Amino acid sequence: MKQVTLKAPGGLDNLTMAEVDAPAAPGPGEILVRVKASSLNYHDYRVCSLPGALPDGRIPMADGAGVVEAVGEGVSEFARGDAVVSCFFPEWQAGDERPFDFSTVPGDGRDGFAREQVVLPATWFTPAPKGWTHEEAATITTAGLTAWRALVVDGGLKAGDTVAVLGTGGVSIYALQLAKAMGARVIATSSSDAKLERLTALGADHVVNYRTTPEWGAEMRRLTGGRGVDLVVEVGGPGTLAQSIVAGRPGAHLALIGVLTGRSGEIPTALLMARQQRLQGLIVGSRTHQRDFVRALDAMKLRPVVDRSFPLDALAEAFRYEESGAHFGKICVSI
Ligand SMILES: NC(=O)c1ccc[n+]([C@@H]2O[C@H](COP(=O)([O-])OP(=O)(O)OC[C@H]3O[C@@H](n4cnc5c(N)ncnc54)[C@H](OP(=O)(O)O)[C@@H]3O)[C@@H](O)[C@H]2O)c1
Repeated sequence: MKQVTLKAPGGLDNLTMAEVDAPAAPGPGEILVRVKASSLNYHDYRVCSLPGALPDGRIPMADGAGVVEAVGEGVSEFARGDAVVSCFFPEWQAGDERPFDFSTVPGDGRDGFAREQVVLPATWFTPAPKGWTHEEAATITTAGLTAWRALVVDGGLKAGDTVAVLGTGGVSIYALQLAKAMGARVIATSSSDAKLERLTALGADHVVNYRTTPEWGAEMRRLTGGRGVDLVVEVGGPGTLAQSIVAGRPGAHLALIGVLTGRSGEIPTALLMARQQRLQGLIVGSRTHQRDFVRALDAMKLRPVVDRSFPLDALAEAFRYEESGAHFGKICVSI
């Protein structure tokens, strides 16, 4: 079978395709999955492009979707032919014991899904949303579940709320689609006027160019009649958080997800306190969150926005496309 590994010292030029032996038959509690697709996330890009971030020989990619080809003894949850999706934190099945690093995450602390077949515990997967392509399904592991957790699990989204989403990457577009599907209003930003048009076509109620309107927090307040937004899906980090606090209403929920503008910086803490806002960091979610999310998707009309798909042997090219920032929504890999 084919797989991609990252050779030392890392960097996109060292993603190497190889032919290796197929895995052994699944043991007790395991399933053999023919991986059909993965999707790119900023995290995968960071660890593959940053020299030394991954050990020699690591198989990248956190997201994996495919078909169960065989089940081991004692597996009752899945059967041959089922469409499944991998979990970001395979050992975080449920509850409040949250992982605090990436040591258990496929494609980072352990081998990921840039390969044709895997034999892994059945509990590392959930069913895929019904009727979705494998590429669509692969987008739920990281980007989709993060948006779901930010809005629903942590943010308590309800119809009529106003949600701010920043930029047009995978998490933000998912958040826009979910928020609209659940009856919320959405204010979306982008650095590109062409992408703003696409955001409007996707259902955004208002759009703001964050380059030409650097005080976009005040603009969001204006667009909400001075009230401010109820929820911010904060993917920017230090370079955007101050504006997100300005944009938020008193009591707003700010879901701190991303580091697109850097890893640390100044926060207007007095304003955060005065507005009595809740700033909640999060990393993806548990398997139970993913099951709930898939159940919700099965009840919604939503389908994720897949910008482009690349074959597995063009993984480096796919990351370079992500690096260019030209994409809108998810970039996928077909395997
Ligand atoms: N905590 C978690 O669980 C979790 C999970 C997934 C992702 N993340 C993080 O969330 C962030 C986004 O991830 P992703 O996979 O969605 O990335 P992505 O698909 O690569 O998104 C990139 C997009 O972000 C937008 N952007 C860049 N700088 C911006 C800024 N200053 N203000 C607003 N938007 C900006 C750009 O949109 P325009 O081209 O429209 O300007 C760009 O196209 C990353 O930091 C990632 O590590 C965290």
